[in-house]
Amino acid sequence: MKTVIKNLKKIYTSEGKNALTGSDQNTVRIYCNNDIEIENGIIKKITPNISTENDVHIIDGQGCIAIPGFVESHTHPIFFGTREDEFVNRIKGIDYEKMTEKGGGINYSIKKTRDASDKELSDTLKRNIRKFIKNGVTTFEAKSGYALTKEGELRLLKILNQYKQETELDMKITYLGGHLLPKGRKKDDFISEVIETIKIVGQRGLADYFDVWVEKIAFNRDDAALMINEALKNDLKIRIHTNELSCFGGGLLANDLDISSFDHFDFYSEEELNIIAKKGINVTLLPLTQFSLGEENYPNGKKLIKRHIPISLSTDFNPGTSYSSNIQFLAQLAFLKCNMNINEIINGLTINPAVSLGLGDRLGSIEVGKQGDILIMSIPNLESIFYSIGMNNILYTIKKGKIIYRRNI
Ligand code: NIG
Ligand code: FE
Repeated sequence: MKTVIKNLKKIYTSEGKNALTGSDQNTVRIYCNNDIEIENGIIKKITPNISTENDVHIIDGQGCIAIPGFVESHTHPIFFGTREDEFVNRIKGIDYEKMTEKGGGINYSIKKTRDASDKELSDTLKRNIRKFIKNGVTTFEAKSGYALTKEGELRLLKILNQYKQETELDMKITYLGGHLLPKGRKKDDFISEVIETIKIVGQRGLADYFDVWVEKIAFNRDDAALMINEALKNDLKIRIHTNELSCFGGGLLANDLDISSFDHFDFYSEEELNIIAKKGINVTLLPLTQFSLGEENYPNGKKLIKRHIPISLSTDFNPGTSYSSNIQFLAQLAFLKCNMNINEIINGLTINPAVSLGLGDRLGSIEVGKQGDILIMSIPNLESIFYSIGMNNILYTIKKGKIIYRRNI
């Protein structure tokens, strides 16, 4: 099956299979008036005036621009129930941390998720991912973490794995066993249960990553290290939530442990930056979370990039702190609040998260040999993504050369 995308004004993309940082993160190649040929899902040609035989499927780019499909590397899409009241109360001044400690917040989602049926959870998951596709996501990472018992988390992971079989998107799965100590549980018992679950997850191959929240209201570094060591022994790679609410020092875990990504990182110490920069570990910034919490602690992306740390950006989609799948608004926030420029942000939404998920060899850029995961956006230039606040400019989301979302104008 051959597809040719014609009538594109410009194509903007990074090049290569590696994460970009330093001045390289500020590099985007621009093709003017080129077509793209995709055969069996893989890009074969990027040149002007590609000739088309009869059996070729033609996509009309309508004089728009093309960029690589967004790679969303941090989401919590499987849960039941929503938390509008909490959002409204937060804006009235109720503190997220105190509310969580009293048994609200994540604990509320845990109760609703445990009580939901498989069908309710799988329907919610599908609905959430459809919203991502509409917003240009062609690859995503999905975390469990709203059941927090052995059986409950295995159930969430099973539903995520079933979805992975049927979705047209590329998908990575994370067991977020260390999301929070559920209200009423003793810490040592809970960590033992997580360790027991990690063994099963590893044996059954139910996840690619393990995740733990290293923060005052969740787990400290010693707790996290116990879980991470077991996860590494069981062939799971590690992504970590940390420094979302305060400078808690989760980054120091990189001193002794192999970590694929530190996520949130709204706060950081020099000591953490030193070790993360030395090891070249990816940091995933989630400014929509700060926005939804009504906070102003936006991370300074440029400072990290200058230290040659590769930066990814993600929505952190979840029912509590970031109920948004709007990647373009995320890009705008990063531009306005995180001291990052346009090219750095585009690479932070495409090649860098692809590499952090171990997919940089086939995803994250529009290049010959990579998968035909492409967004056609109905705007005249890249700057317009940032200028059109809150708008969805996606005309087509294309996965492996096939249109999976088409906006009805
Ligand atoms: O990434 N930090 C931990 N977990 C989520 C919040 C989850 C919730 O409030 O439901 C986050 O912000
Ligand atoms: Fe998160």
